[in-house]
Amino acid sequence: MNILLTGGLGYIGSHVAVELLSKGYDNVIIADNLSNSKIEALKGIERITGKRPKFELVDFRYKDQVFDLFNKYQDINAIIHFAAFKAVAESIEKPLMYYENNLFSTINLLSIIKSLKYKIHFVFSSSCTVYGIPDKLPVTEDMPLKEPTSPYGKTKLFSEYAIMDTIKVLEIFNAISLRYFNPIGAHHSLEIGESPLKTYNLVPILTQVATGKRKEFLIFGNDYPTPDGTPIRDYIHIEDLAEAHVLALDRLFDNKNQDKYEAFNLGVGRGYSVLEVVKTFEKVSGKKINYRIAPRRPGDIAEIYADTTKANKILGWKAKYNLEDMLKTAWLWEINKKF
Ligand code: NAD
Ligand code: WQD
Repeated sequence: MNILLTGGLGYIGSHVAVELLSKGYDNVIIADNLSNSKIEALKGIERITGKRPKFELVDFRYKDQVFDLFNKYQDINAIIHFAAFKAVAESIEKPLMYYENNLFSTINLLSIIKSLKYKIHFVFSSSCTVYGIPDKLPVTEDMPLKEPTSPYGKTKLFSEYAIMDTIKVLEIFNAISLRYFNPIGAHHSLEIGESPLKTYNLVPILTQVATGKRKEFLIFGNDYPTPDGTPIRDYIHIEDLAEAHVLALDRLFDNKNQDKYEAFNLGVGRGYSVLEVVKTFEKVSGKKINYRIAPRRPGDIAEIYADTTKANKILGWKAKYNLEDMLKTAWLWEINKKF
């Protein structure tokens, strides 16, 4: 089976590549434009698995580059589509950059799939942002998709709709969207981890404050309607998240999917506040965090966490790591980073 990972050198893609190679999916092709990742991740994948995936420098925004890739590899059986920009706050400042990158990439892939004469499976990196501000918690997959609070979230929602609508008119096309909550941590080998060129997410900022690379940690708002006033999210370890991708692919390859389009929440199923994350991080790292309360960050919501029953029952998947484990690997990665 030849599996194409778009954006496969990024944080999640590199961990999924390791999981695929470890579970016998030996033919992994990674295509990435390196806009938010480093080529060194390829060596990390090889050091863990003893296998080196093929690598192609491709920008999925451009249709000709996508078609050239599929001309070169005429036997791709599945695509896991990670390539996208992912920062909520940046997307509010630069909406068109997000719409162009994230939507053109998805549409170009769907166009090529439509032109192929053979069956191809598709797994899409979606996000809990497609639930907007949820009416009740925890969120289940059958709850209505609502207007996301940022252009980033809207690109995920529009991409899901584009996939769903393509499936309706394309007999041989099936897809699974995995709606990630907040993935954190690093591979236990510490050969790969989160190494973004642009850092917006909580955990990589926190670890940089702990090493002194950044002076202080800003908590964006403590006036939310939550017990300690800071926002609540469902943090999930990156290795748990990666495992679910292999199970989703297995499901498609084994023709076990009940619908042509399925979506699964990937979280732990409970929420932690920003302050709880900071305190837990201090405990596992032994570092005191210099933090300060700052204004709310545009686009943030007060609280979201997943109901993961569907993924537990149907994919046979369950998150194993707790918040302490997640933050420990994030910290060990930060101080032992190879790239
Ligand atoms: P990342 O930035 O580490 O990885 C994305 C990769 O895609 C990078 O290697 C980047 O260079 C590449 N890329 C971006 N645009 C591209 C393009 N036009 N052509 C080719 N390559 C391109 O991010 P990540 O955390 O690994 O996220 C992967 C996917 O998961 C994204 O679609 C993201 O929206 C989604 N997601 C991430 C999170 C999260 O918190 N990390 C949560 C929910 C969903
Ligand atoms: C977490 C919490 C911030 C930085 C979005 C998407 C999710 C995933 C990750 C990617 C928030 C607070 C952060 C800081 C802070 N998406 N924070 N100080 O925005 O919850 O999730 O990005 O595709 O699907 O919804 O993630 O890590 O940016 O923030 O106080 O310096 O940490 O306000 O409450 P977010 P995050």
